[in-house]
Amino acid sequence: MSQPRDILVTSALPYANGPIHIGHLVEYIQTDIWTRFQKMRGENCWYVCADDAHGTPIMLKARQEGITPEALIARVAEEHRADFAGFRVAFDNYHSTHSDENRHFATLIYERNRDAGHIAKRTIEQAYDPLEQMFLPDRFIKGECPKCGAADQYGDNCEACGASYSPAELKNPRSAVSGAVPEQRTSEHYFFRLADFEPMLKAWTRGGSLQGQVANKLDEWFDAGLQEWDISRDAPYFGFEIPDHPGKFFYVWLDAPIGYMASFQHLCDSAKGQAAGLDFDHYWAPDSSAEVYHFIGKDIIYFHALFWPAMLHGAGFRTPTAVFAHGFLTVDGQKMSKSRGTFIKARTYLDHLNPEYLRYYFAAKLSAGVDDIDLSLDDFQARVNSDLVGKVVNIASRTAGFISKRFDGRLAAELPDRPLFETFVAANGPIAEAFEAREYSRAVREIMTLADRANQYIDEQAPWVVAKQEGREAELQAICTQGLNLFRLLIGWLKPILPGTAEAAEQFLQIEPLTWDALATPLLDQEIAKFKPLMTRIEPAQIQAMLEASKEDLAASSAH
Ligand code: 2FM
Ligand code: ZN
Repeated sequence: MSQPRDILVTSALPYANGPIHIGHLVEYIQTDIWTRFQKMRGENCWYVCADDAHGTPIMLKARQEGITPEALIARVAEEHRADFAGFRVAFDNYHSTHSDENRHFATLIYERNRDAGHIAKRTIEQAYDPLEQMFLPDRFIKGECPKCGAADQYGDNCEACGASYSPAELKNPRSAVSGAVPEQRTSEHYFFRLADFEPMLKAWTRGGSLQGQVANKLDEWFDAGLQEWDISRDAPYFGFEIPDHPGKFFYVWLDAPIGYMASFQHLCDSAKGQAAGLDFDHYWAPDSSAEVYHFIGKDIIYFHALFWPAMLHGAGFRTPTAVFAHGFLTVDGQKMSKSRGTFIKARTYLDHLNPEYLRYYFAAKLSAGVDDIDLSLDDFQARVNSDLVGKVVNIASRTAGFISKRFDGRLAAELPDRPLFETFVAANGPIAEAFEAREYSRAVREIMTLADRANQYIDEQAPWVVAKQEGREAELQAICTQGLNLFRLLIGWLKPILPGTAEAAEQFLQIEPLTWDALATPLLDQEIAKFKPLMTRIEPAQIQAMLEASKEDLAASSAH
């Protein structure tokens, strides 16, 4: 046996000012499947995440609600945790960027980069709200589009005509916070000198850390020239004050990825981390042999593939082994829409449907690329019903009853068709490769081909006919034992995708939690529990009710 790999995995940190929706879930489900797969293989794999708790929108939202930002982020953290738990996204640790660990690492990374000469200081001019006495981020300035004149357009692009412009070009600009006419004011800002890291970033980009499409995008950015990055914001701001610069705060995007480290440090310090002997430096030292992976959406590649490795390198930490970007979610071929009811919150989904359905559907659609994926609601229902209920679970329901009723729940001592079992076992390798490469759709295709094969075996053997014939008892037990062993393999492979169903199947089969290695050994000559249906069909009414409830969510949220 080779040594287990040490693997640290993250998903992007959700902002602490809004609910988790099914668009977010693509990434958390994608990452959760990968980490569950690694754990099932016996690797030392750790999955951490946190709420992204800083920034102007969170500060303003708290103000709007008449509560402190701390109270807002505490409430949202509870909601996020409950939503993730509902979808069986099993973080080893879920933390917050508004934490002691994050302040420590943000300060450390800033100071080390500063001392190495990678931080510049410059005075810049920016829009300022004289009523609120604050500088305004672009998205908090509204006005008329300079191209088509449409009213009420935000910051830097027009929703009516699609034009892009700078906020200074907006006609009749107003602060979206107070309605005041913004003024231009100057202020001193701190900049991260990204260009200092160009050679290192080029080497990292070409060293296999990025998907092909992403590496090409980076080449475009290198060609355009790497710009200095403004990492500071003026008070009032909800974030960490920059040491030695009272009144200046780290920009939320500086301390957000550092939150990955903070969450991992928090895990190392926890009882769980200590019991496992987890050592922060083993994962983050420059010469670390551990692997670090970040799963992200394609909209935040610039931050993760340029700023983040550069900041880490500048501060004497290792760079990520790889960054895995995915595409966006569409519903029925279109952007999620509040009016169509397809802007579906995690909670609303859970009120109507089993999380395993969505996990399965996303897996069936996901590959290693950055293409968008579509949740077609009709296809979702058809696929879950036909694959999971009609094929996989059906194998157990067609065979388990005979074992309970006729053999006191006991499986036969031998398989009648060992070669067929071995054909299935031979798929272990290719299915594992597909999971490892994040080609989940390929894994699902292979698994479903074998599910068809298992059903074909049962059709051919027709246990319901054998059951009626005298003197064929042993044969009946053997056929059902074979069927249940094929079912066990299918469920084992699906376990990273369907953790809840797999757990119920483990109870039914009365076995220890399945590991990848255990799959090759058949389950023989032991008792199993009485079969209970492991999953029910999706009814169209459930989907309709979820869409209706999503429209009601919209009505409720626009009422205040
Ligand atoms: O885009 C977002 O939703 C950010 N909150 C993601 C942060 S990821 C990481 F850098 F923290
Ligand atoms: Zn316009």
